[in-house]
Amino acid sequence: MTAVLQVLNLCGGYTPEVDIIKGLTLSLRDRQIATVAGTNGAGKSTLAKAIVGLLPQIRGDILVDGRAITREPAEKRAQLGIGYVPQVANVFGGLSVLENLQIVASVHGCKGRIEEMFARFPALAQRRRAYASSLSGGERQQLAFARALVPNPKIMVLDEPTAALSPAKVTESFQLIKTLPSFGVSVLVVEQRARQALAVSDYGYIMDGGKIALEGEAGILLADDRAAELYLGRGRAPQEATTHREKHAVPIIESAAADVPLLPVPMDS
Ligand SMILES: Nc1ncnc2c1ncn2[C@@H]1O[C@H](COP(=O)(O)OP(=O)(O)O)[C@@H](O)[C@H]1O
Ligand SMILES: [Mg+2]
Repeated sequence: MTAVLQVLNLCGGYTPEVDIIKGLTLSLRDRQIATVAGTNGAGKSTLAKAIVGLLPQIRGDILVDGRAITREPAEKRAQLGIGYVPQVANVFGGLSVLENLQIVASVHGCKGRIEEMFARFPALAQRRRAYASSLSGGERQQLAFARALVPNPKIMVLDEPTAALSPAKVTESFQLIKTLPSFGVSVLVVEQRARQALAVSDYGYIMDGGKIALEGEAGILLADDRAAELYLGRGRAPQEATTHREKHAVPIIESAAADVPLLPVPMDS
């Protein structure tokens, strides 16, 4: 299966002096869900911003369908099919549900998509005249996803989609995320809730120290003892776990990334 998104030896941060992302490589396959899990401060939001074009300083390469977009500004990346749902401020609270969708649709010239979104998100259809600020956390998230889906993106980057939700809504949110490939998108989720995110994903990456520390098929990562002990917050029975690790997971903490020459790419704004 082909990769729709490739991130190759990405380095970058908010100033030229300090890299937050330190040689990170990942890929996202067509209509799959991949999670990048990591603790608070690991650099997950910074990675999401780098992919969508909002990180001021980046080096390395980002490819969509094999085409380098590393130098493209955020607007162009959106046109090329990268959708983004930021962690906060992902809807306009002072506008109605309908107006939130109309704004995106008019920018991208796809007003016909609005009714499709209402058909897929009946709760939003019922509340189309309501202010977004009056929606529940779960409804607001549906609106944020619908806004990102209106332009019919190839890829959706979700930054900690469950962070603002009440615990009761978290499971519901992951179930919603699981349905996103049925809209024709491939989904990259960055999440602190690693286990739950991996449970709805095809593939998983664990981010530590600005790079990928561990990766594998989501089910295998969930069963991996090193992932459990170091990153997923729960150990496993040693014998079973060792077998899993040795057979399947791909430990790449001593990543070769630093040995690979970085492609000199001008700063992106
Ligand atoms: N706008 C910013 N300017 C400077 N540093 C930032 C900014 N946002 C985040 N950082 C720093 O980048 C690091 C990673 O942050 P972030 O990507 O938000 O982590 P995560 O999303 O994994 O919690 C942290 O050390 C944080 O202080
Ligand atoms: Mg974050």
